[in-house]
Amino acid sequence: MSFPLIVAHRGYSAIAPENTLASLRKALEAGAHACEIDVHLTGDGEVVVMHDGTVDRTTNGTGALREMTLDQVRRLDAGAWKGPEYAGEPVPTLAEVLALLDGRAHLVCEVKDADIEEAVARTIVDAGAIERVTFIAFDHQMCARLRDVLPSVGVLWLIGDGDHDPGAVAEACLESNLQGVDAFYGAISEELADTLLRRGLSLWAWTVNQGDEALRLASLGVTSITTDDPVLIASALG
Ligand code: G3P
Ligand code: CA
Repeated sequence: MSFPLIVAHRGYSAIAPENTLASLRKALEAGAHACEIDVHLTGDGEVVVMHDGTVDRTTNGTGALREMTLDQVRRLDAGAWKGPEYAGEPVPTLAEVLALLDGRAHLVCEVKDADIEEAVARTIVDAGAIERVTFIAFDHQMCARLRDVLPSVGVLWLIGDGDHDPGAVAEACLESNLQGVDAFYGAISEELADTLLRRGLSLWAWTVNQGDEALRLASLGVTSITTDDPVLIASALG
């Protein structure tokens, strides 16, 4: 396997409706090593795949996922906004995503809600998918809870744009026994990469849609690159 690994952001979201099975199938066809998704809980406790906490932007419905049942969410169209060929594409459950990927690509699961780690963990255990998942989260406390709820699943701390103190970031990961950092690509400097990698931590990069930037990150030794367009990044990396 060659590095950096290519992670399809919300599936192959450059060409297909984000966070749908159609988008994940396109990512698999494109040869992505892993697929990233975002998960939330419905009002009746089902883990579903969507970036936002409301359905307004990516479906033909309105409202918060927490105020809807799975049955209501399943009746929405999550594909038509991207193009008529995707009309009728449903909002998938986490269980459906795990069944689709089933050893064909790793799953990078971003946990956005504050209190859903138990439900997410249960779904992964029920699917027998512990070895096929890595967690990411922006909230450091959520990262620690995810590590506790499924200790054998790797957890990376998401950090955004800005000026991060490399030593402090490394310490925060090591103290909480996290696998490493998944950083906004613009925040990745040579110093941040060196500090993390020399301490045995992983450094992933999101969300990179330019070939020259992918080459810069590869030269710094990042483990993976998350992108909306896995074909573009694979061809840039050669
Ligand atoms: O892969 C990390 C990235 O997904 C975080 O940002 O907003 O796309 O969930 P966002
Ligand atoms: Ca995400």
